[in-house]
Formats: sequence, C-alpha cells, structure tokens
Amino acid sequence: MADLFSEKSKDWDKNERRLMLAKSIANSLKANIPLNPNMEIMDFGAGTGLLCSQIAPNVNKIIAVDTSDSMLAKLEQKEGLKGKVEIINQDIIENPLAMKFDLIMSAMTLHHVENTDRMIAILKENLNPRGWIALADLDAEDGTFHPKEAQGIFHHGFVRADLKAKMEQAGFIDISFTTVFTIQKETQSFPVFLMTAKVK
Ligand SMILES: C[S@@+](CC[C@H](N)C(=O)[O-])C[C@H]1O[C@@H](n2cnc3c(N)ncnc32)[C@H](O)[C@@H]1O
Repeated sequence: MADLFSEKSKDWDKNERRLMLAKSIANSLKANIPLNPNMEIMDFGAGTGLLCSQIAPNVNKIIAVDTSDSMLAKLEQKEGLKGKVEIINQDIIENPLAMKFDLIMSAMTLHHVENTDRMIAILKENLNPRGWIALADLDAEDGTFHPKEAQGIFHHGFVRADLKAKMEQAGFIDISFTTVFTIQKETQSFPVFLMTAKVK
C-alpha cells in the first residue's frame, strides 16, 4: 500500500494546531471515559502518536495501528512511549486483528476509511464486553478541508445523526457527541467531534 503520509509525516508534529487538537480530543476522552492503569487500548490510525502521548500515562498499554510507515517511524522515535506503545502496521479493515481491547480511540482517521459500516463492525469485534470506543473526526464539511488533489479522502466529514444510526445498528449504546475543537482555516472553520459509545 502506498504511504500517503510520507511527505506530511516529516513536519506532522511541528503544527501547533495538531498538538492542540490531540490535547482537546484527549481531554474530552478523559472526561467521558473512566480510564484506568489496567486498560489495554488501540489507537486506530495512530499516526505519529499525538493522541497516544496524551493517553499513555493513564493506561497499561496502547497498540498503535496505522498503515503509514513514515508516520509510525516518527511514533517509534518517541522516548516517552517506549515500553508503553506497540506498533502494528496493518490495514485492520482489510485484514482484521485477532485482539481485544478495553477501548479503541481514533483521531481524524475515519474519513480515510471508505466503508464506514465495515469499519464500525470490525472495531466492535476488537472490543471486550463493555468496551469503549472514542472516535474523533470532522463534522460534515463542503469538501474544502483537504486540498482537491489529496488522496485517500473518502468522506467530507460526517453527519452526526448518520454516524449515530450506524453505531446503533452495530450494537453500540450510550452514543454521545462533543465538539472538542474547531479547526480555523483562512475562510472557514471546521468543527471536530468526539463520539463516545459502549458495547451493549
Ligand atoms: C489525519 S492522520 C491522523 C493521525 C493521528 N491520529 C493524529 O491525530 O495526528 C490519519 C492517519 O490514519 C492512517 N490511516 C488511514 N487509513 C488507515 C487504515 N485503513 N488503517 C489504519 N490507519 C489508517 C494514516 O496513515 C494516517 O496516519
């Protein structure tokens, strides 16, 4: 699979807005989900580990799943995550993992996955009974968030009610949304939600 992030990964962590976004997602996650030091979690589309870095001190172990070698190479260099975060480079939607987690979290990765129903079903399979999910992404937008030439973008954000219906259909309960951040670009602002839910 082509690494669509090979250029972006070089300066990914130098963007202050990205750091603030990861922090805001993590703060909302911590406010909505009771983390504990025994928890094993998956970060789906972990990238360079911005969200992992915020959550790692509160849990036992994080499995960072991503399909980009270059993004994961940046994560691997982070001293603070050594021993706490394990890396798996695998498209788990195509080739699912035989592992179970107490929580699956994800930041800004949903719009890169074409089949949302399949993604939700696979993530649910990877959760323990009473496991949690916390997914952050853009609210529905007009297609101007990414440059026209950007590859691997399958959704211009998400309509919350539609996503909620898909989650209910898959058997999740207590589904709730919080606006955690607004990404301000030249002429427009793009709200980011965190959706949290539990397995029935
Ligand atoms: C916009 S970046 C976000 C990275 C990180 N979560 C963050 O907030 O900084 C999206 C990430 O999702 C990864 N990705 C895209 N499709 C994926 C898939 N099917 N499975 C795992 N990772 C995927 C990309 O390689 C990329 O690292």
